[in-house]
Amino acid sequence: MPSAHITFDQTGDKIAGRIRKMRPSAVRNLFAAAVRPDIISLSGGMPDVSLLPASAVRKATRAAVEDERAVALQYGGTDGRLETRQVVCGLMRDLGVRCKPDEVMLTTGAQSALDLIAKTFIDPGDIILAEGPTYLGALQAFSAYEPDVRCIPFDDEGMRMDLLEAELERIGKDNPRLKFCYVIPNFQNPGGVTMVPERRKRLLELSREYGFLVVEDDPYGRLRYDGGHMIPLKALDSRVIYLGTISKVFAPGLRTGWIVAPRDVLARINLAKQGTDLCGSSFDQIVVEHYFTDTPWEKTLQKFLDVYRERRDAMLGALDEFFPPEATWTHPDGGLFVWVTLPDYVDTGSMLGAALDAGVTYVPGDSFFPDGVTGRNCMRINFSYETPENIIEAVRRLAKVIEERLELYRIFIAAGAIKAPDGAEASEHSTSRANSDGFAPDGQPA
Ligand SMILES: Cc1ncc(COP(=O)(O)O)c(C=O)c1O
Repeated sequence: MPSAHITFDQTGDKIAGRIRKMRPSAVRNLFAAAVRPDIISLSGGMPDVSLLPASAVRKATRAAVEDERAVALQYGGTDGRLETRQVVCGLMRDLGVRCKPDEVMLTTGAQSALDLIAKTFIDPGDIILAEGPTYLGALQAFSAYEPDVRCIPFDDEGMRMDLLEAELERIGKDNPRLKFCYVIPNFQNPGGVTMVPERRKRLLELSREYGFLVVEDDPYGRLRYDGGHMIPLKALDSRVIYLGTISKVFAPGLRTGWIVAPRDVLARINLAKQGTDLCGSSFDQIVVEHYFTDTPWEKTLQKFLDVYRERRDAMLGALDEFFPPEATWTHPDGGLFVWVTLPDYVDTGSMLGAALDAGVTYVPGDSFFPDGVTGRNCMRINFSYETPENIIEAVRRLAKVIEERLELYRIFIAAGAIKAPDGAEASEHSTSRANSDGFAPDGQPA
């Protein structure tokens, strides 16, 4: 007879309040389900590292294993290896940002940079501004330091500056509680939208007027499939704190990201980092340095772009073909994600079980808001990891699950058991796609 194991949590009352308040990451939990062979995962944000040429990986790794083994296996400086920081300066120059190695700190991925920034700037109750929805890993990193995160909706031109200004008016000028505005201007995660140049300029003007820092997180800037390069905020204002990473252009398994910031800011972050990890991985930094100096990485990047563009197109085509007319979604020019909005009576969190049964995963929209409630009718779907055939099949399966939910509501609405949502003639299939960009009229993802 099988025995039941019941574990009593004996440390519960010892756990710090800030950890007790933290919510587990929906994406982490979904990783467990995503390994089932019958499941097609649209939930992660994983690059397809199988596209990396073995020869390039071997070449970059050989430097760490053979030529520089003694350094690779030793502790390094807290700011990271100088030669790798020089390589980062070169990568930044390509984007239009001029910086010196002493304005660069290497971190254990951009994720650890987010944690270090939160540790350096946030006292409990401090106000942080961010797009809403925003990267859930940033919300997690910030939440450990107990800020008051205020989300500013975006539309298809990025964060809404009029709504930001209204929030700033409520907060007041030079409010000491207001610390920074966290933005992902290129192919936002999870929204897929890009901030247009006028809004970038306006954000910087407002930061000077109201006295807050700008944290620019840019993991996807080079993953552009259509249109031209966008000038980073950092190139327009040297006070911006810029976060970069190799995760989406090389390999997230080599945990290497960076912060580009003024020297006085980096000196403070350096203190925070000493307590976190003393230094990043010298081994990873050497591999990264050699990948970007000794291999044709730009050619490999082009391969990533061609493959992801095809997958994005497969996803957008399948959404058009299979999704019900009540659904709307964003049309990203780059990055890894599409943000889908369903009628507000659909709860994508409770729908996930049915989706798993149907063999597909996504991330429910409420994961991307600090209140864990907003965005319940939305979902993030990823197109970088699965083949076009799998993406099409996954969208077809998902559409069926959504359609079943909507059918139920249509019956309830037709019977008068529940009220049709304003403007949504759910029982008539009549919502137009032409004007549906995934946003309610006030710019709030519906
Ligand atoms: C917006 C954003 N910032 C930071 C990260 C973390 O990147 P890294 O792998 O460098 O830690 C991610 C990862 O998906 C991301 O989407």
